[in-house]
Amino acid sequence: MSPGSSAVALDRAAVRLDGRDVWRDATLQVGQGEFVAVLGPNGAGKSTLLKALLGLVPLSAGKAEVFGRPVRRGNPEIGYLPQRRRFDPDLRIRAADLVRLGLDGASWGVPTPSVAKRSRVADMIALVGASAYAQRAIGELSGGEQQRILIAQALVGGARMLLLDEPLDSLDLNNQQAISELIRGVCRAEGVTVLLVAHDVNPILPFIDRVVYVAGGHVLCGHPEEVIRTDTLTRLYGAPVEVLRTTDGRLVVVGLYEPVSHHADGH
Ligand SMILES: Nc1ncnc2c1ncn2[C@@H]1O[C@H](COP(=O)(O)OP(=O)(O)OP(=O)(O)O)[C@@H](O)[C@H]1O
Ligand SMILES: [Mg+2]
Repeated sequence: MSPGSSAVALDRAAVRLDGRDVWRDATLQVGQGEFVAVLGPNGAGKSTLLKALLGLVPLSAGKAEVFGRPVRRGNPEIGYLPQRRRFDPDLRIRAADLVRLGLDGASWGVPTPSVAKRSRVADMIALVGASAYAQRAIGELSGGEQQRILIAQALVGGARMLLLDEPLDSLDLNNQQAISELIRGVCRAEGVTVLLVAHDVNPILPFIDRVVYVAGGHVLCGHPEEVIRTDTLTRLYGAPVEVLRTTDGRLVVVGLYEPVSHHADGH
């Protein structure tokens, strides 16, 4: 595949669930090796977008391609971290073994020798800064520690694309930035394309190449400064919103009305 071709290409794509369009007419392209934040209010269809790229949710119109081919289920090129993972506190599996599952699950064809596997697992654990607790049971770890282990698991299989659904949601601000920086490093070093769903763009703003904004039944893709603007987001939401920039450079999206959702839990 030529280096310039897209990692993700949507062409007038729509998803319909329960007789209702979640979003429609989505046209966008993400380049290989880009780090993309997926933003938008609860229930807008961010998780649905990732699931559409995984072939877990069918399109009702249009086309979706990953690395130049139509989306398909079980694509080994994609590593996926679903939203809101919880481990039973009594779960005895060691964190390092959980990371290793990401490797075994993705090893098609020639099996990787065990020594090489162990060192790759250890490398990924070191990369996410989890070496100190990797030998402990996953259920005992804090939410943020579990999150790092899950990110290592998503990385270890050597996927060309990572779809991470709110991987930062139980991390404190410093750790959100540290993990974002780490993910950008993986994008740069290994050419991995990353779509990361986030609720607050600010901690990740210095690291991302582009944003995909999902709101009001529409999907918009562009550079953060093109997309996260009062006029652009007001059009996208179909309702007045205002983007404010604080004196320390943070972007704040102020909605005059809460987005209407007919599913109270929104997931
Ligand atoms: N299997 C399903 N059947 C019917 N409706 C669904 C299904 N899955 C999701 N939805 C609805 O589709 C919409 C988009 O859901 P989605 O989970 O993609 O939102 P989201 O942007 O990820 O929200 P959040 O920020 O809360 O995670 C919601 O209204 C949700 O209730
Ligand atoms: Mg979601």
